[in-house]
Amino acid sequence: MRKELNKNRAYRLVTSGNLVLVTSSYKDRDNIITCSWQIPFSHSPSGLLIALAKRHLSSEFVRKTQEFVINIPDFSLIKEVIFCGTCSGRDYDKFKETNLTKEKAKVLVKTPRIKECIGVIECGLSDIKEAGDHYIFFSEPLYSEVEEGLFDFENFVWKESADLIFHLGGEFFSCLGKVEKVIL
Ligand SMILES: Cc1cc2nc3c(=O)[nH]c(=O)nc-3n(C[C@H](O)[C@H](O)[C@H](O)COP(=O)(O)O)c2cc1C
Repeated sequence: MRKELNKNRAYRLVTSGNLVLVTSSYKDRDNIITCSWQIPFSHSPSGLLIALAKRHLSSEFVRKTQEFVINIPDFSLIKEVIFCGTCSGRDYDKFKETNLTKEKAKVLVKTPRIKECIGVIECGLSDIKEAGDHYIFFSEPLYSEVEEGLFDFENFVWKESADLIFHLGGEFFSCLGKVEKVIL
């Protein structure tokens, strides 16, 4: 039997995709934000969106430079994920505090990527919409890279060995589980 759940917690029933670290930059400052609200929204042209709270420094940086990088961490980076998700770039240099390594992007000029991540997507901003207390940043992926041994390039899916992180809410996380092929 189902039980009523407070409607303000309904979003916890739809776990978003794997958790990502979004890098952004403005002038000579680089920042990292932990982000679980990310969604692909179009095949052609290819589109990805992220939802960032208006008050976050990362929102300010992305609005200013019109670009960001989606970096994909695995579970070995959970401590860094928590730090970047609980401390603001207004108070800390998150690259310095976490020891994550800046890597020059292939296509973007301003924003660095994170070397330790198992995948990266360099994104150009295509639109911004206000949605409650968040901005929805719509983007076009301009370039992406993924760790060879962890991705099935024939079927374009992560392999089971990729320890992707999923945020269930609050202090609860899970990892990529069993990957099964189902004939359609
Ligand atoms: C697991 C986790 C997931 C998060 N997901 C999001 C998200 O999708 N969007 C968002 O705006 N903030 C999210 N946050 C909160 C921000 O990461 C956090 O407030 C961060 O300190 C903001 O950094 P900034 O001010 O340097 O941009 C998340 C935090 C955690 C711990």
